Amino acid sequence: MCGIIGVLTDRPAAPLMLDALKRLEYRGYDSAGIATLVNGGLDRRRAAGKIAALEAVLDAHPLAGVSGIGHTRWATHGPPTEANAHPHVAGRVAVVHNGIIENHAALKEVLIAEGVRFDSATDTEVVAHLLDRAIAAGRRPEEAMAAVMPRLRGAFAFVVLIEGEEDLLLAARRASPLAIGLGEGEAFVGSDATAMAPLTRRIIYLEDGDWAVVRRTGTSVFQEDGAPVKRPERVSSISGALIGKGNYRHFMEKEIHDQPEAIAHTLHAVIDPGTGTSTLPSPLDAPNVSKITVLAAGTSYYAGLTARYWFESLAGVPCEVELASEFRDRDAVLPKDGVAIAVSQSGESLDTLMALRHAKALGQKVLALVNVPESTIAREADGVLLTRAGPEFGVASTKAFTAQLTAFCALAVALGEVRGHLPAARVTALREALAALPARAGEVLHDDDRFHPIAQELSRARDVLYLGRGLSYPIALEGALKLKEITYIHAEGYAAGEMKHGPIALIDEHVPVVIVAPSDGWFEKTASNMAEVRARGGRVILLTDPDGAARLGEGADHVVVLPAVDPVVSPILYALPVQILAYLAAVEKGTDADQPRNLAKSVTVE
Ligand code: AGP
Repeated sequence: MCGIIGVLTDRPAAPLMLDALKRLEYRGYDSAGIATLVNGGLDRRRAAGKIAALEAVLDAHPLAGVSGIGHTRWATHGPPTEANAHPHVAGRVAVVHNGIIENHAALKEVLIAEGVRFDSATDTEVVAHLLDRAIAAGRRPEEAMAAVMPRLRGAFAFVVLIEGEEDLLLAARRASPLAIGLGEGEAFVGSDATAMAPLTRRIIYLEDGDWAVVRRTGTSVFQEDGAPVKRPERVSSISGALIGKGNYRHFMEKEIHDQPEAIAHTLHAVIDPGTGTSTLPSPLDAPNVSKITVLAAGTSYYAGLTARYWFESLAGVPCEVELASEFRDRDAVLPKDGVAIAVSQSGESLDTLMALRHAKALGQKVLALVNVPESTIAREADGVLLTRAGPEFGVASTKAFTAQLTAFCALAVALGEVRGHLPAARVTALREALAALPARAGEVLHDDDRFHPIAQELSRARDVLYLGRGLSYPIALEGALKLKEITYIHAEGYAAGEMKHGPIALIDEHVPVVIVAPSDGWFEKTASNMAEVRARGGRVILLTDPDGAARLGEGADHVVVLPAVDPVVSPILYALPVQILAYLAAVEKGTDADQPRNLAKSVTVE
């Protein structure tokens, strides 16, 4: 997955594209480049590394031109070197590309046999060569596009700039997102509306299989078969302001501290703060929902795993949680009147989008639970519930996760109420427990000095285990994921009761074990698992509440005491200490918490 920008303007194109690439850095940041037309000819600058490296190249060697394309890369084919950075140029054609051309090897073989020489190890370069050869053979650019598109397989988006064509960008989209921005005598193409927000808010979202001929005076869109099609223009609500880190060292730190607000705002999306009543979003408001299937990846998947407990116990609705990347590879049997919930911070994860489409094909109505309002998943679902976490920039998801948990819990309570599964008094108590969470989260964040010595210990470990039972099990999984992705320390999350079936062999005095154990119905059993760790010399970091600390604190090497909350809402609060520990361990190690190696914020390849 990568970020794409294209501009046709009358202003210097390079600074506009550089700004757009910074907004797109969440999509990948291992190399970047831009190309413009200078006196009709192609010129480009590229650099391995983050956008800052490209900025330095441009400072040293500025690039003129008012038409151009730009790219920030997350490598799929070929390492993140300058030679593999986009734009890729073949003859008169330059291409920036996101996604994968799945049949690139076969196409490359044919092109090599025809005498073409390749300069990169990417799959992208075949597109540049195919278009260039079609144009060299006498086809007009749009005819070349119509001829090349049917030859490409995979999920991708790309934008093309052609030598001598000052007023033309060609753009294509198959599954990967791409949008066109309309300005006054200007036109733009970008991976999302955020990239183009300072340039225009008038957006045309291309649909799957579309390709477009973009000029300053107008855009023509064609379907896969070449038939012209009209796509509606929308006015984007996304702000052009770049959001800063404030006084925080990293976006992740800021976003961890944004959580009381994110939880409060998200709660209001389900529970009316004035009346205290809930409205279920469509299609979850159908009278006879037979089953809920949650589709998600990564941290969003762990939010789904937590939601399963809530939907089953609070609403009595059968629920399964599917890894989006695996869902299409099974013959899942889904019932009539089933609802799928596609959960995604970005609303762009390709695995989740594909799972959504598969669920629809299997007759499910789909609710999108997303944090980005105009995202592809939001647009393709039957109904949308927005988490109100605000833009999340840190690659490690934090506030979006607690916002997803909050939305899920509030939805499960609302479903439990309408289905008569929860007594009225319990509905009220749970809503009060949810409403109190922003304040409780604030207390945890206020008192974060105590995490430093524990984070220091974690930062020195080679392996870390996270254990939890019941509602705390997904938090153990999430804690391990957070630590892995930003500190590169090997970590595993386990159901506490599962440890004795194998992972216990890993435990010795060098392996810290983080135990997530609020005093809930599973507490006694988790306590036994903690004793098993201690008996084998393991170092225990216990996350619990005052009651849990009184009962178990002495058996732990470190105890983090969190405010007492209703056990049902505890995962939302216990997500915070695992995030803080991972963040502080990353600071301790000196890794880049916001842009850890090999990752991207939004994963738009399968
Ligand atoms: C979270 O810390 C991860 N970086 C990652 O697992 C993420 O949650 C996953 O890629 C799903 O993203 P989404 O919520 O935007 O779909």
